[in-house]
Amino acid sequence: MSYIDQLPGSAKVDQIRQIHEQKLQWVNQNKKGFLRYRTPFEVLKSFPAASVDCDQEMVTIGNRADISSADRQIIENSLRSFMPWRKGPFSIYGIDVNSEWQSQRKWQRLLPELPELKDKIVADVGCSNGYYMFRMVPHKPKLVIGFEPSVQHYYCFKGLNSMAGQKNLEINLLGVEQLQLFPECFDVLFLMGIIYHRSSPVDTLRDVLSSLRSGGSLILESQAIPGTEEIAIFPKKTYAKVPGTYFVPTAHCLSNWLSRAGFMDIDMFCQHPMSSAEQRRTDWMQFESYSDFLDPSDPGKTIEGYPAPDRVFFLARKK
Ligand SMILES: C[S@@+](CC[C@H](N)C(=O)[O-])C[C@H]1O[C@@H](n2cnc3c(N)ncnc32)[C@H](O)[C@@H]1O
Repeated sequence: MSYIDQLPGSAKVDQIRQIHEQKLQWVNQNKKGFLRYRTPFEVLKSFPAASVDCDQEMVTIGNRADISSADRQIIENSLRSFMPWRKGPFSIYGIDVNSEWQSQRKWQRLLPELPELKDKIVADVGCSNGYYMFRMVPHKPKLVIGFEPSVQHYYCFKGLNSMAGQKNLEINLLGVEQLQLFPECFDVLFLMGIIYHRSSPVDTLRDVLSSLRSGGSLILESQAIPGTEEIAIFPKKTYAKVPGTYFVPTAHCLSNWLSRAGFMDIDMFCQHPMSSAEQRRTDWMQFESYSDFLDPSDPGKTIEGYPAPDRVFFLARKK
C-alpha cells in the first residue's frame, strides 16, 4: 500500500500519483548523477537490521556483532557514497556516522514542545536524510511523510530505512511547492531550516497553513538575526556563504509572518546563537562548515558582514 492511500479524502491523489510517477521515471534513469546514489541504496537494501533504536541521540540501526567485518566494510563504503553527511548522528551496524550537524541538539530543543504525534499524519518538509523522522518513531505516528527534492538525501533516507524497516516512514521527491496537493492533510508539519530559502516566505507559510488540518500544529525552525526590530535582511548574494538565502528575519519579524499567514497561538519557545560545536567539519563532511562562514576577526558577523545567525523555534496552530 502506498502512503497516498492513507491520506485524507481532501488530498489531490490523482495529481500526487502523477507527479510521483514523473519523479520516479526521472530518477530511475541510468544517469551517473542518479546511479551514484541509487547504487549504494540498492546495496544497503540487502542488510535489513534485527534491531533499531530511535530513542537515543544516535539513531542506531543494527549492531556490530550482527554482521561480518567484510559486510561491515561494504556497508561503510555504501554509506560513504552519500557524503557529505549533513544530518545525524547515526550508528549503522557499529559504524558511527559523525555528520556535520549535531542534529540531536535541535531535536532536544523542540522535544518539550513536541505536539502529540501518536496516530497522527505528519509531514517533515525538507527532511534531508530523515534523522528527525527516525526520532519521531518512538512517538508512534501513523505516518510521517518526508518531502525532499534532493536525490542524494532521498536515496540516503531510503538506504537507511531499507535497513531500519520503519513502515510508517515514507519519503518523496517533492518540495514545499507541492504542498498545495495536500490540502487539510497533516496533523503536524515540521518546517525546519527552510523558510530563509524561500523567496516568498509568507506565501510558503500560507501553503503550509492550507496543508494542515483544522487544529493542526506547525513546528517552525529557522535562522534569525538577533534583535527586537520587525525586520529581515535580504542578502545581496549569500548569507554565511550559503547561496539561495533570501530573507533572514528577526524572531519578531518571523512571528509577524506567521500571524499574517493566518496562524494562531504563535509561541517562540527557543532562541539560541549558532555555534561551531553544533555544525562542524567531520570525517563524513569534509567541506567548509560553520566556523568558515564567520568573519575571522569578529565572530558576531558572517563573512559578508551581516549579523551572525541565531536559530529560533516556533510552535503555531491552525484554527
Ligand atoms: C538546511 S536543510 C534543513 C534540513 C532539516 N530540515 C533540518 O532542519 O536539519 C534544507 C533541506 O531542504 C531541502 N530542500 C531543498 N529545496 C527544497 C524545497 N523546495 N522544498 C523542500 N525542501 C527542500 C534540502 O535538500 C535540504 O535537505
